[in-house]
Amino acid sequence: MTKIKTNILINEDCIEAMSKMPEQSVDMIFADPPYNLQLGEGLTRPNNSVVNGVNDDWDKFDTFSEYDNFSQQWLTQAKRILKPNGTIWVIGSYHNIFRVGAKIQDLGYWILNDVVWVKNNPMPNFRGTRFTNAHETMIWASKEKDAKYTFNYHALKALNEDLQMRSDWYMSLCTGNERLKDKNGDKIHPTQKPENLLYRIILASTNPNDIILDPFSGTGTTCAVAKKMGRQYIGIEQDKNYIENAEKRLSEITTTDPKTLEVTVEKRKEVRIPFGNLIEKGLLNAGEKLISPCKKFIANVRADGSITSQEFSGSIHKVGAMVQGAPSCNGWTYWRLPNAKPIDELRKLLRAEMG
Ligand SMILES: C[S@@+](CC[C@H](N)C(=O)[O-])C[C@H]1O[C@@H](n2cnc3c(N)ncnc32)[C@H](O)[C@@H]1O
Repeated sequence: MTKIKTNILINEDCIEAMSKMPEQSVDMIFADPPYNLQLGEGLTRPNNSVVNGVNDDWDKFDTFSEYDNFSQQWLTQAKRILKPNGTIWVIGSYHNIFRVGAKIQDLGYWILNDVVWVKNNPMPNFRGTRFTNAHETMIWASKEKDAKYTFNYHALKALNEDLQMRSDWYMSLCTGNERLKDKNGDKIHPTQKPENLLYRIILASTNPNDIILDPFSGTGTTCAVAKKMGRQYIGIEQDKNYIENAEKRLSEITTTDPKTLEVTVEKRKEVRIPFGNLIEKGLLNAGEKLISPCKKFIANVRADGSITSQEFSGSIHKVGAMVQGAPSCNGWTYWRLPNAKPIDELRKLLRAEMG
């Protein structure tokens, strides 16, 4: 299989660039496509000053069907290059997210969540004719319905002080030093995303060294955060000026020490190993003895992976619980080998062997 080039920015149309990439080659895609805001010319504040909104050519489409066709094309390429267990995030506003969402479903992706970024500091509705538009929506989808996608549930819970992470994220717009400005102090890009948004997405749905692609990379926010977090990145952006600014931004970033990138591991991801596998593998033999922590109970290992102790027989967990008169017991940590090491050590050996 052709190896994909990573840690690069590609100055090209993303449909073209993705069509040249090998299939099933990236782990996660974050896409911040044109929103098709249809703002018209010159949105002004009540004092007649011009609102610095998104009025660039790259955001303009003549019709909804033109926009749909564009979405269909880039989402098709994105699906082709996504690994089977990869996921895609697409961010948008009410102008485009429903249309993009329909295409996502039509193309056979499986929507896992929609996450709402609630803006702490939204732009007001200057005309006072509608609600302040204070959020954007992100669709998170796997490539297929039954994909074994990455979701670092425990890491997110740890990030959220031991509370399950919810789908409403309160974060501010990208301002201050983080906002890239030109020599006149003007914003380089109208829709630069805040880094903390990407941090949470990357922490949630990737592992260190995974390959992350952003087909509309703009100022390179996704790539910058990916680099900081020890992931590989590919950014695609059609505008040369944005590419140059992103290159500069990336050159100033150092990757975090790999040791500190480890996150709380999700237990259910570990391969399940029944006790009987230790006997099949010859790590323990029928007739060998196991002892309880205080050496009060001795158990005999049987050929079928059950154990006996006192008048009880059954699984390591059941017998462990019964000898103690306890409602439950983790037999892996309770029963020990004659050298006093828990039998869990043997399970770890087997897990390591299985990779
Ligand atoms: C919403 S902005 C992304 C901003 C980015 N997330 C950031 O933080 O800077 C969309 C970007 O997509 C680029 N773009 C639009 N159509 C494109 C295409 N067909 N191929 C590549 N880039 C495209 C635009 O130039 C623009 O920079």
